[in-house]
Amino acid sequence: MGAKFGFFSVLVSLLSLFSFCYSENLDLNVKVVTSKANTDDNFICATLDWWPSDKCDYGHCPWARAGMFNLDLNNKILLNAVKELNPLRIRLGGSVQDQIVYQFGDMKTCPQMKKDDDGMFGFSHGCLNCTRWDQINDFLNTTGVKLTFGLNELIGKKKPLNESQEGGALVWEGDWDSSNAASLMAYSLSKGYKIDSYELGNELCGAGVSARVESVQYAKDITKLRELVNALYPDPTTRPQVLGPAGFYDKEWFNTFLQHTKPSVLDGVTHHIYNLGAGVGKTLINKILDPYFLSQTAQTFKDIL
Ligand SMILES: *[C@@H]1O[C@H](CO)[C@@H](O)[C@H](O)[C@H]1NC(C)=O
Ligand SMILES: *[C@@H]1O[C@H](CO)[C@@H](O)[C@H](O)[C@H]1NC(C)=O
Ligand SMILES: *[C@@H]1O[C@H](CO)[C@@H](O)[C@H](O)[C@H]1NC(C)=O
Repeated sequence: MGAKFGFFSVLVSLLSLFSFCYSENLDLNVKVVTSKANTDDNFICATLDWWPSDKCDYGHCPWARAGMFNLDLNNKILLNAVKELNPLRIRLGGSVQDQIVYQFGDMKTCPQMKKDDDGMFGFSHGCLNCTRWDQINDFLNTTGVKLTFGLNELIGKKKPLNESQEGGALVWEGDWDSSNAASLMAYSLSKGYKIDSYELGNELCGAGVSARVESVQYAKDITKLRELVNALYPDPTTRPQVLGPAGFYDKEWFNTFLQHTKPSVLDGVTHHIYNLGAGVGKTLINKILDPYFLSQTAQTFKDIL
């Protein structure tokens, strides 16, 4: 990248290698003619999730104290590891993000997430309190990482009554209620907290996972998020970005969504891939190390482009 050396110097290096002796130090100069794509400096990303300790799969309860309600944000090893990964983006979100409310503004009660057979993913609502949000932002300030915060998109929507789920996830109807998000943003602004970007909803597009939202409705909701962000952050240079839909690619859903979204609304289109399969897979390590396996997901990226 940015190499300004000509073909001639490559040739000279190669000639000197072959005509004299074996050398361990080979200078290879690459002349950049065209670039195919740009990747920003923050391409390293990690997700922090909200799962409580009693979330169990495959006979294990792997979250332990790694979920955002339990994680020790003062742990030295964690702090140092995160600093070493800079420039790093942390996305705070995941399956239960659409069940999290924020204890700001009118939200006086702050329920603790509990096992609940009637709740999505088998859990009740959870709540981010002021103390925890301060701790998260101290952590971001200390480590210098960027935060992409996944907002609850289902708040204000009607939970579908029909429990027969043969066709997969049920559609949640109605407009997104932005007031709780607005209170979180207003508080964060008053404290000078830097949020790099906001996402809205987790895996609600296409067929959804546990719930879904129609593309036209989602376009309306993310436009509302854009208006809120612009109103609260009048300075475009410090304004958080608006990203979505943070779910699996589905051609028709994405097309309709983008057709109903004005060009100034979205800063970035985000999507999820699970090309490595489940974390419990016995051959996971082989897949991670195999470039041919990894390339199998290239078509999804081409489709999105
Ligand atoms: C805030 O939330 C954290 C994490 O859920 C919890 O441990 C803590 O007790 C709560 N603090 C207050 C003051 O409610
Ligand atoms: C951390 O907070 C201090 C005080 O508000 C601020 O001056 C500094 O720029 C922040 N650092 C980062 C990396 O956000
Ligand atoms: C519930 O599902 C059944 C069977 O799919 C359907 O006939 C019925 O209209 C649905 N009811 C509502 C309220 O959507």
